Amino acid sequence: MFAVMPAYPEKPAEIRAIPGRIEWVLSGGNMSYVVGINDEKMPQSVYFGRRLSESAVPPVAGMRPGWASFETPMTTTPLEYAAWGAGLALEPALKVDSANGDRTLILKYMSSQIEANRLEIVLKDTTQPLKVHLFYEMFPEGVLARWSRIENVGRQTFKIDQAASATWNLPRASNYEWSWLAGRWAAEWQLHTAVLQPGTQVLESRVGTTSHTTNPWFEVHQAGLTTEQSGPVWFGELGWSGNWKIAVEVSSTYNVRITGGYNPFDFGFRLPPGQALETPKFYAGFTEGGMGEASRVLHRFQLAELLPSHPRPKLRPVLFDSWESTRFNVAEQNQMALVDLAAKLGVERFVIDDGWFGSRNSDHSGLGDWFVNSEKFPHGLKPLIERVHASGMDFGIWVEPEMVNPDSDLYRRHPDWVLAFPDRQRTEERHQLVLNLAKPEVKEYVFSVIDRLVTENSIAFLKWDYNRTWSEPGWLAGGNETDQINGTEGREVYVDYVRNLYDILARLRKKHPNLDIESCAGGGGRVDLGILRFTDETWPSDNTDALDRLNIQYGYLHAYAPQTMMSWVTDSPNGFDHRFIPLKFRFLAAMQGGLGIGGALDHWSADDLALGETMVRFYKSVQGTIQQGSLYRLSPPSTGAEQVEYVSQDSSQAVVFAYLQAQHNALTYPRVVLQGLAPDSMYRLYPLDPEKYKGPDTVAGSLLMGEGLELNLEGDYAATVVRLERLHEERRP
Ligand code: GLA
Repeated sequence: MFAVMPAYPEKPAEIRAIPGRIEWVLSGGNMSYVVGINDEKMPQSVYFGRRLSESAVPPVAGMRPGWASFETPMTTTPLEYAAWGAGLALEPALKVDSANGDRTLILKYMSSQIEANRLEIVLKDTTQPLKVHLFYEMFPEGVLARWSRIENVGRQTFKIDQAASATWNLPRASNYEWSWLAGRWAAEWQLHTAVLQPGTQVLESRVGTTSHTTNPWFEVHQAGLTTEQSGPVWFGELGWSGNWKIAVEVSSTYNVRITGGYNPFDFGFRLPPGQALETPKFYAGFTEGGMGEASRVLHRFQLAELLPSHPRPKLRPVLFDSWESTRFNVAEQNQMALVDLAAKLGVERFVIDDGWFGSRNSDHSGLGDWFVNSEKFPHGLKPLIERVHASGMDFGIWVEPEMVNPDSDLYRRHPDWVLAFPDRQRTEERHQLVLNLAKPEVKEYVFSVIDRLVTENSIAFLKWDYNRTWSEPGWLAGGNETDQINGTEGREVYVDYVRNLYDILARLRKKHPNLDIESCAGGGGRVDLGILRFTDETWPSDNTDALDRLNIQYGYLHAYAPQTMMSWVTDSPNGFDHRFIPLKFRFLAAMQGGLGIGGALDHWSADDLALGETMVRFYKSVQGTIQQGSLYRLSPPSTGAEQVEYVSQDSSQAVVFAYLQAQHNALTYPRVVLQGLAPDSMYRLYPLDPEKYKGPDTVAGSLLMGEGLELNLEGDYAATVVRLERLHEERRP
């Protein structure tokens, strides 16, 4: 029988305690991580790299000497979780104010336990009644999650100024480079790479949510060794949707340490006796398979371990969204017309975007009033939803539940529900304010109003939006909340807000198990591994220009799985770059993850609609492979000739997209050299455009990965796609 080569070696996760020492080897996928307790009873980082064999027992090096009288051993030793104390001059993992005025800590080992793939190391301060639990969870995909819990075991209240999830120490080397994702609204996910310089480079958000400007993801490579296809990569991402910080430090002795967790900026968390603060999960991994494999490990991990419906996430249906076609003018009549056109194209989910509720005729009013606007929908949503169902689609709707327009009934009723300082002017952005979700009554309101909407209507999908940053993060006290703001002036809002958001989403999902949720924040402002535990997909950017989108998606897919990435085909020119891009290119650009259509279908020509039908039909033939297969970035968009390939997990199907932005100097299109196929198998090729591929119908995997394919792309904004099906051995010609 034909033996299927697994797309990646299945190596289980395990934690091995080294006999006779207090040391553990954590292995999963192709990586191992070793941590041990040193001579000073402090947890020290021992190893982070390729998977170790059973016999490997790396020594715990022990505290390193300081450097003269200017750097103490706390600074020179690669510690796992160093609190500020004993002269630590680098980014502390923890900084706490004690009731007796002491602001330092020295954490030493107390105990540990292993449960399945989870290790817990308990530390205690040498003088204060404060315990810190370090957690390690190893996943078989080759990802390790680390986080901490800070626990008050005394009788007085502590105030936490800074709390990280973990510090990752990398092997000492002087040829490190690193990559990160930065951008802005409508230009998120720009990939940057630079030499890792001595000093501190900071990735962070101070705007209340994950942010458009930086994403909590990083990669570290070794210059001269690492490429897209091979070489060492250490990578990580933080699971938190509030203010976060990742400090990437190169110390004076070239120790590289990466500390991430809550952003200490304006942070403050009171810890009364018996209470604990848990930090977000900070995930990291290692591969020798280059930047491409680093992304694939993260993708597999997200699908198998993290997304709400893991380990078998539901495929993202092809959706239609009304935003770019009808804006705030959504109404029963115009949506009914779009339903019929969308259904004809093969759309599976019909979503009405902003404008359906309260007095929402523009972005000036209505946010907060989540009841159907009876002028636009005189019979409620029911007739529209019935039509959507009758056309074979399910129904989705846009909400932005964390926000309020001052011009709304909700704000008029509860002006103290927003984030604000009592005497300071409230800065409006997009004419709206942020509700203080950390307040129990606000949390309850948001849950119940959305729960009612979903219960009363047959809603399969929420596009959960969030359209501004924080400006005055004050907690307006009322009633019995005065105690809450003592000491930290309500700074708990940074933690409690996000926790409550997660809690609302979790409750909604529990109560409505078939509900899908998209995380949108004016595009890609809230994409991280925290929100992705509760949301099925994200909206990476409001910029739907297909050319910009290729670049945006290229960056996005470094960190997040295609399954999570929604993209729409919209009309061209679309207002961002004022260029015209042909419809086929737009479709093929939007097929790199979940496919959506956001164009004004009622203005599409008969030819456009016919092409749309063909494209949607093609997409459905490769939907599973794109969303849940292995992604290979064959050629980046910066070449002007991007090539992207997806291979199903059993390598029986592959699909390769080729784009040409502009032809120059009469050059023919670069060959498309595939990856990740079964080399000894034959593949049958199904080009979408037969005139663009003149080669044989069946080609060996080894040849496709050796010489590759010639695709005849010419002119400007040309694109095509080829589907490949592996032939069973017995059918091999
Ligand atoms: C945000 C979203 C858009 C759209 C608008 C509606 O900008 O990212 O897709 O939903 O809000 O106001």
